[in-house]
Amino acid sequence: MQSPQTIADLCALGGLCADRRGIPPRNRPVKPPSAAFARLFEAVQEGVYIGTIGPESTATIAANPHLKLMFGYPSEASEADVRPFDCDHFIDPPARLALLERLAGDGSVTDYLLRMRRADQSAVWVEVTAAADAPSADGSIRIEALVRDVSERKKLDDETRDIYHQLLQAEKMAALGQTISGVAHELNNPLATILSWAERLSQRNTLEEPVRRGLETILSESERAARIVHSLLTFARKRQTTRAMVDVNQVVRETLALRAYEQRVSNITVIDALAAGLPPVFADGYQVKQVLLNLVINAEQAMLSANGRGVLVLRTWYDAKHESVNLEINDDGPGIADEVQPKIFDPFFTTKEVGKGTGLGLTVAYAIVQEHGGRMRLESRANVGASFYVELPVTGGNLPPAPASAPRARRDGAADKATSASVLVVEDEAALASAVAAALRDAGYLVEHASDGRAALGMVRAQAFDAVICDLKMPRLDGKAFYRTLSAAAPALARHVIFVTGDVAGTEAEAFLEQSGCRWLAKPFRLGELLRTVREVLT
Ligand SMILES: Nc1ncnc2c1ncn2[C@@H]1O[C@H](COP(=O)(O)OP(=O)(O)OP(=O)(O)O)[C@@H](O)[C@H]1O
Ligand SMILES: [Mg+2]
Repeated sequence: MQSPQTIADLCALGGLCADRRGIPPRNRPVKPPSAAFARLFEAVQEGVYIGTIGPESTATIAANPHLKLMFGYPSEASEADVRPFDCDHFIDPPARLALLERLAGDGSVTDYLLRMRRADQSAVWVEVTAAADAPSADGSIRIEALVRDVSERKKLDDETRDIYHQLLQAEKMAALGQTISGVAHELNNPLATILSWAERLSQRNTLEEPVRRGLETILSESERAARIVHSLLTFARKRQTTRAMVDVNQVVRETLALRAYEQRVSNITVIDALAAGLPPVFADGYQVKQVLLNLVINAEQAMLSANGRGVLVLRTWYDAKHESVNLEINDDGPGIADEVQPKIFDPFFTTKEVGKGTGLGLTVAYAIVQEHGGRMRLESRANVGASFYVELPVTGGNLPPAPASAPRARRDGAADKATSASVLVVEDEAALASAVAAALRDAGYLVEHASDGRAALGMVRAQAFDAVICDLKMPRLDGKAFYRTLSAAAPALARHVIFVTGDVAGTEAEAFLEQSGCRWLAKPFRLGELLRTVREVLT
């Protein structure tokens, strides 16, 4: 960088975006002496480049020490060897062509953002401000450029954008959650009725074959619908959960064990990289397993449908900064296109054929992770594969209080036997009430029905009952108010109340159920479950 010619070029940098014919701008201050420019060239904390860029190659006239540093060249490298605009420095080759076109067309660029590679191949984001001469016959262009490393700023921008997208996603989910929980709740009663009737009828011994087949189909399809409703309520934070200290690695192993056979026969290789010594997280192990299963099954399906084989990598590690246990589920499948990514966690977004996917797997996973105070995100490029990251906080400090689980019915295996106990069914849904009443009568109970709390109070005053099965939401007098009055009037019977309800976790109803200590079942429930609970309450 000593020849007068180069110094003169450097002087030209003072008017980087000036006229390419070299007409000096008017009123330009008197130039400092060349030695001062030379010192500036050596010391300035910006990359300075003067040279020629051609369609295939470049030739450097001058490159200052900061440019060498920025692109990872040794400080002793000769300026001619520092060629940051060579093709192999561009991560995205079309970006180089676009830059050349801009320089040829406009004669300059200002703060032109490029993703480039250093000498050691690591990525660096730079902004280029350059003035260019008119292209020569072979298409090469002489430029004078300032190059600024903006990697740090870009990283911050990206992080801000990530946070913004996460907020947007959370908001979208919250709004959808409300609507969906309403719809799911409305579906619970009819589903509970269909399930109850189908279950009851299919237990008959005298059915003709086509009738039996039909009933089995009704039963299995309504169970499928019930599972969908269940997923929707999980998404809408309406699922009971039990949290405890959970070893995430153990959950990963259990989940993989569940999929091991399928994976073996379908050409999926699994690599697990589970960090030793992970702290336990305060979580619902069952739900964490559900998150993992949903992600693992998605990855398997994606890899198989694209390549008929695949490699699944599961990684866990502890992030001390965020005090979280992190999981990565990575596949080498088709990846997820950029334009699809914003929709990926939305309910019912699926690319699978009808009947193959409901589009709820990721929605539910996202909701569960969020409910645990954690975060979930996706990184993917089309044709390269996808990585889903799950972050679970170790302390669980900011969690909403975990709703208690419903007391579990003991499975003693005893057959339902005839009993003369009398049961009052308090339920405003006539169809469901009659299905439940019929099943109880089948099991030998004497059954009465009241269509709301007020009617029920009248009946318990007039007649003795051994147990009450009661809905929570009812017109006139709801389950809660009925129970309060009953507790005062007939405390012994109040201890034999079983609630059935569609809305539980995170609601007032849940606090009430917990406080009352009563048994309760979530709709839609199975008849067997109800009968077992009645038996247990009566013994
Ligand atoms: N690892 C992956 N690779 C590629 N695409 C994926 C991956 N995981 C999810 N997807 C895409 O995201 C969509 C939504 O996934 P999601 O799990 O929510 O629903 P689904 O798998 O289609 O249905 P289901 O309700 O049975 O889970 C999928 O249909 C698929 O297109
Ligand atoms: Mg899925």
